[in-house]
Amino acid sequence: MINVGVVGASGYTGLELIKMLIIHNGFRLTYLATSSGDIKIEELHPSLEDVISLDVQKADTKDVIERCELVFLALPHKASMGFAKELLEANIKVVDLSADYRLDLDTYEKHYTTHTDKEHLDSSVYGLLEYYREDIKNTNLVASAGCYPTATLLALLPFIPYIDTDAPIFIDAKSGVSGAGKKLSDTTHFVNINDNMFAYNPINHRHAPEIREKIKKIHNKDTSITFVPHLIPASRGELISIYATLKEDIEPLEILRERYKNDMFIRVRETPVNIKATSGTHFCDIFAMKNDKAIFINSAIDNLLRGASSTALACANLMCGYSESEGIPTIAYVP
Ligand SMILES: NC(=O)c1ccc[n+]([C@@H]2O[C@H](COP(=O)([O-])OP(=O)(O)OC[C@H]3O[C@@H](n4cnc5c(N)ncnc54)[C@H](OP(=O)(O)O)[C@@H]3O)[C@@H](O)[C@H]2O)c1
Repeated sequence: MINVGVVGASGYTGLELIKMLIIHNGFRLTYLATSSGDIKIEELHPSLEDVISLDVQKADTKDVIERCELVFLALPHKASMGFAKELLEANIKVVDLSADYRLDLDTYEKHYTTHTDKEHLDSSVYGLLEYYREDIKNTNLVASAGCYPTATLLALLPFIPYIDTDAPIFIDAKSGVSGAGKKLSDTTHFVNINDNMFAYNPINHRHAPEIREKIKKIHNKDTSITFVPHLIPASRGELISIYATLKEDIEPLEILRERYKNDMFIRVRETPVNIKATSGTHFCDIFAMKNDKAIFINSAIDNLLRGASSTALACANLMCGYSESEGIPTIAYVP
């Protein structure tokens, strides 16, 4: 068994990690932390009452180094790099769920803040499993991909060679409210989001440069991405609809089937996808169809799992020599 910890245990992605880790066959949960600690995990998450009882500490890198071989940082950006630097120097494996190690330095500093751990930024591996699996196996630092970028890139990347990348690519994205984390705001207040739906940060959302940068790295293509996220009155789930222009005639579903024939957590669907079928699972469901030169690509994930915690766990599995699928959820919350 390998000892692991979760820093950010009171948050939404932290809870998802805990739920998977307590039944994992290769990881033992030995450390939980938040910014204040001094509480039991079942007090923070009453759904865990009579399931586990563990102390939650005030986050401290010394304790992580003493108790863990691998740690999940389920923290806001900026907080993560504050912890990761020291842990990596002590040879602890780190899976970071924030944006701190996802982007090139210039992109990060333009869209987030000054980077305080440039040294490790270069050696981080982007945790998009289907594209960086071999690199993930050989690194001590994984930057788990963002939720919207995960659903968007898994859907769009197979088509980049067949798309006119000089033409605009429109990405219409919709997310359940848990995508914003546990902190309340006017936007996520019940009376604002119940029976409602709206775009937020259109075009300028921070996930647009992440999507653009990864397409460039994987296909060496500059793309004109117009990314518009929407908030929907659901707790979890993300639905992506992409509209682009084809430069040659293709069979969209064949392209997807061929690209993902060895990837057990991608389901190529024959009809448009929905969030419910992936809710509670690590699956990314993808559908695509064309209309002459126009292509519609459609994907769905659970933002808290495939968009965050189950991806982080699958990466940790690979970093520790376990099967990628160990402890990864596949049964959806349906109905
Ligand atoms: N939600 C999603 O769908 C999603 C998807 C992909 C990636 N992510 C990323 O994953 C990370 C976590 O997201 P989340 O939704 O789980 O956020 P969240 O619900 O707001 O939880 C954040 C956690 O971080 C802890 N924390 C904050 N500052 C800290 C510090 N200085 N020291 C120790 N703990 C600290 C909080 O603890 P306290 O209770 O003590 O404040 C809380 O447990 C974020 O970077 C987010 O962007 C989220």
